[in-house]
Amino acid sequence: MNFEIELENRTKETESVVKAYLPEESGWAKTVIEAMNYSVNVGGKRLRPMLMAETYKLFGGKDKAVEPFMAAIEMIHTYSLVHDDLPAMDNDEYRRGKKTTWVVYGDAMAILAGDGLLNYAFETALTSFEMSGSSVAAKAKALSILAKKAGIHGMIGGQTADIEAEHLGGTVTQEHLLFIHEHKTAALIQAAMMAGAVLAGASDAQVQMIEQAAYEIGIAFQIQDDILDVTSSLETLGKPVGSDARNQKTTYVTLKGIEEASREQKELSAHAIELLAAFEKEGYHNAFLLELIRSLITRDR
Ligand code: IPE
Ligand code: IPE
Ligand code: MG
Ligand code: MG
Ligand code: MG
Repeated sequence: MNFEIELENRTKETESVVKAYLPEESGWAKTVIEAMNYSVNVGGKRLRPMLMAETYKLFGGKDKAVEPFMAAIEMIHTYSLVHDDLPAMDNDEYRRGKKTTWVVYGDAMAILAGDGLLNYAFETALTSFEMSGSSVAAKAKALSILAKKAGIHGMIGGQTADIEAEHLGGTVTQEHLLFIHEHKTAALIQAAMMAGAVLAGASDAQVQMIEQAAYEIGIAFQIQDDILDVTSSLETLGKPVGSDARNQKTTYVTLKGIEEASREQKELSAHAIELLAAFEKEGYHNAFLLELIRSLITRDR
């Protein structure tokens, strides 16, 4: 397997699945739909829908019923970014190499586009019930996972704690920061992988293992995001560097320094890979998924 070529192919496939579900730009509400589609179409790694599809394949999933869920998770993720960039939150002007949604469409439309994407994500995921493949119970369970992990006990909760922890500086403990990272970032990665597993018919025990692995992948992912905010550039990253320092965020880098942050990130990633590789004993394996996770710790954007 040539990982780079495979990654490029699968990114394109994921991209076309996501784009197929975007709403048509017409009518009196056209502007908000344009802002929604702008935010999704500008790009991004498409990591969450890809992780969903690969976890689905890991457990033998072969149907198209996963596709509306892939589009849904990318819509929820994109909405979280649109709102995260708002002046009232991180106040950032670049995202995915382009001007942020609020800069192009104004704050009001950016707020509405985020709301629109969140709601449309569920409208989209619900269309899976009209498709063959996966049981109705599995689809309902996947929907419930998506809803919970995106909500107050998931991503929204993490973003709340992130905003409230601004300016707290030295009083943010590792436990506090782990709460933030688990919820603002790991939760959607857990949702992606757990929904993929559930739709493929994985057992409760298997889904629990996936939840743990995705937690570790998510924390590692946010540590690398914190590192890149210090070490990268706008050109490479597609979003401003120094955003965390400007907003006086406590991050893994401010808490532990780059070297230790990087060491812990690698440890988490390696353990997550171990957990996923252990499914091989039960006859489930997906070499690309393991490589994808391995690649995240050295990613430059
Ligand atoms: C950015 O996520 C927000 C974080 C949780 C760190 P990504 O790094 O996956 O952003 P895109 O989707 O590639 O733009
Ligand atoms: C935000 O974390 C994670 C979200 C839920 C949007 P960051 O604020 O660090 O994400 P970036 O660096 O702006 O992508
Ligand atoms: Mg933020
Ligand atoms: Mg931000
Ligand atoms: Mg960041």
